[in-house]
Amino acid sequence: MPTTILAIESSCDDTSAAVIRDGILLSNVTASQKVHEMYGGVVPELASRAHQQNIVPVVDAALKNAGVTKEELSAIAVTLGPGLMGSLLVGVSFAKGLAVSLGIPLIEANHLQGHILAHFIHTEGEPANDPPYPFLCLLVSGGNSQIVKVTAYNRMEILGQTIDDAAGEAIDKCSKVMGLGYPGGPIIDRLAREGNPKAFHFAKPNIPEMNYSFSGLKTSFLYFLRDKIKENPQFIEENKCDLAASLEATIVDILMKKLKIAVKETGITHVALSGGVSANTGLRQAFKNMEKSGRWKIYIPKFSYTTDNAAMIAITGYYKFLDGEYCPLSKPAYSRTIL
Ligand code: KG4
Repeated sequence: MPTTILAIESSCDDTSAAVIRDGILLSNVTASQKVHEMYGGVVPELASRAHQQNIVPVVDAALKNAGVTKEELSAIAVTLGPGLMGSLLVGVSFAKGLAVSLGIPLIEANHLQGHILAHFIHTEGEPANDPPYPFLCLLVSGGNSQIVKVTAYNRMEILGQTIDDAAGEAIDKCSKVMGLGYPGGPIIDRLAREGNPKAFHFAKPNIPEMNYSFSGLKTSFLYFLRDKIKENPQFIEENKCDLAASLEATIVDILMKKLKIAVKETGITHVALSGGVSANTGLRQAFKNMEKSGRWKIYIPKFSYTTDNAAMIAITGYYKFLDGEYCPLSKPAYSRTIL
C-alpha cells in the first residue's frame, strides 16, 4: 500500500496544505492573507481568523489536486511550532481532529526543520538535486537568520544565529520607514535591480563567531534617512532605488561573511539556502558567485518552496512516518523553539 500523507502548515499568515505519496509531492495549495497589508505587518488575531476561513477549502483543494480521498491517507503531518500560537492552533486542532476521525497517526513537524528539508521535495518527472549530508544551510526568513549544520534529516546543529532581528524583519522594517509596502522584501528586491549598491554605506555589525545582528543596521538606516530628509524632503523618493540596492547589498554582505566562516571552520562546501529571504536576487547571485568560483556547491530551492508552504511539512512528515515517529495527540503547539 502506498504511503500517502496530508500536510498542514498554518504557523504565520499562510494557510497551506499538501499531499505527498511515497516521497513524491502530488499537490501544494497555499492561501496567502492579504488582510495584513494595510497594517504593515502580520496581525496575529486576524491571521488566526483567516486560517479558520481558509483551512477547509485549502485542504479540500490539496486532496482534489492530488486526486486523493481522505480514506487513502496514511497519516496527517502538521507544523506544531514555532510560530504564532493562534495561527498554529487552527492547523494543529484541524489536523488532530482529522487524524482521530480517520484513525490514522499524527506527525509533528518543526517549521524550521521543514524550511531546510524543502531541498528534498521531489515532484514527478523533475530531476532531484538533493544536498548530500552533511551540508550547511543558511536559513533566512522573516523570523529567523541561522546557519545550520545538517547531518541527517533529524540531526541539525545551529552554528550561528541572529541575536536580535532576523534579516527579513530588517528588510521589512527598513521598507516600512521608506514608506514602501508590506512585505518589504519583494519591493526592495525589485527597486534594488534599478539602483547602485555602492551609493550609500550603512553600519555593519561586529559581533563574534557565526552569529548575526540586524538591529544596528535598521537603526543606522533610520537615522541616515532622518538626517537626509531634513536637508531634502524628497530624498527617499529621489533615491529609493539606490537606497534599496545599498540596503540589500549590506544585508547580503553580512549574511555571506558569516556563512563563509562556517564553510571554512567546518570544511563543508555543500551550502544550501532556505526561507523567504532566499527569494532575494542579490543573495541568490552571491551564492551563484561562490559556486562559479569553484569553492561551493550550492542548493537553492524552487521559489514556491522558499516561503511558508505545506510541501516542506509533507516531506518532513514522510521521513518521520518511515521512522515510525508519531506525535501523541496530547502534545501541544509551541510558539518558540530551537532546532
Ligand atoms: O519564510 P517566510 O515566508 O516567513 C517566515 O517564516 O518568516 O519569509 C518571509 C520573509 C519576509 O521578511 C519577506 O520580506 C522576505 O521573506 N522576502 C524577501 C523576498 N521575498 C520575501 N526578502 C528579500 N527579497 C525577496 N525577494
